[in-house]
Amino acid sequence: MRSYKTNNSEVHLKKNVLTTTFLFRADLEWGKLFRYIEENLSFNHSKINTYCLASSDGSEAYSYAMTVLDRALPQERSKYLPVMASDIDEEMVMACKSGKINLTGIDFQSIANNLLFSKSYFKDAGDEIEIENNRPFQEANVDYRSYRPIKELGDGVVFEKADILEKVKSIKDEGNSVILCRNVFMYLQQNYIIRLVSELGKVLKQGSLFVIGDCDSSLGVKNFLNIAGFQEVMKNVFKRL
Ligand SMILES: C[S@@+](CC[C@H](N)C(=O)[O-])C[C@H]1O[C@@H](n2cnc3c(N)ncnc32)[C@H](O)[C@@H]1O
Repeated sequence: MRSYKTNNSEVHLKKNVLTTTFLFRADLEWGKLFRYIEENLSFNHSKINTYCLASSDGSEAYSYAMTVLDRALPQERSKYLPVMASDIDEEMVMACKSGKINLTGIDFQSIANNLLFSKSYFKDAGDEIEIENNRPFQEANVDYRSYRPIKELGDGVVFEKADILEKVKSIKDEGNSVILCRNVFMYLQQNYIIRLVSELGKVLKQGSLFVIGDCDSSLGVKNFLNIAGFQEVMKNVFKRL
């Protein structure tokens, strides 16, 4: 079991952490989420701050950044980017900061399925990046290759090492935050989840969004969020009331 030290506490994870993930995970309607943000948050805020907590190999943050590059007017893109991505796993953050990501053919199919306009967002195919923590989980027959995001995509995501709860505490919100925190609650202890949701209720102002994944919703996280003052506005997307 990996455990991680944070400023105030040690975070013990319930089980071995699977840090691997993939682009455009299908438990979120990416285009619909961006349209919701444009229609509901953008009109009275000049900047939307987007956080991707427990960002793993960067797939999720890149998926959101590609959605913005695909759908926002060029002069509007800086309103939504960069995505501030963080993960507690040092090995994972180092891999992200190397500017590379492991992808498979399925990732490229997902890009084509989710974007309106065809464009090559990844280049320089090379050998797979070795990520020790993912080795026990990797399927033997999956062919990973490493890629670099093109400049505008690379500039659209910033990576740092941070614990979810510590990061949430540091957020200064004006009702203009979008927090992706997905498919991670199964690793967190119950008392950590309660502290996190209570902190979200304090930090986030009316209108800000907290986005979870299917793995989290099956764990009853929705109920905690409802009690803390959040309402589901589309699948896995919760608005602070
Ligand atoms: C299964 S991945 C989820 C990746 C991505 N969010 C997604 O939905 O595809 C879980 C990630 O959560 C990270 N993680 C676990 N506990 C964390 C914590 N307390 N703070 C930050 N990251 C954490 C792990 O290091 C791992 O990269």
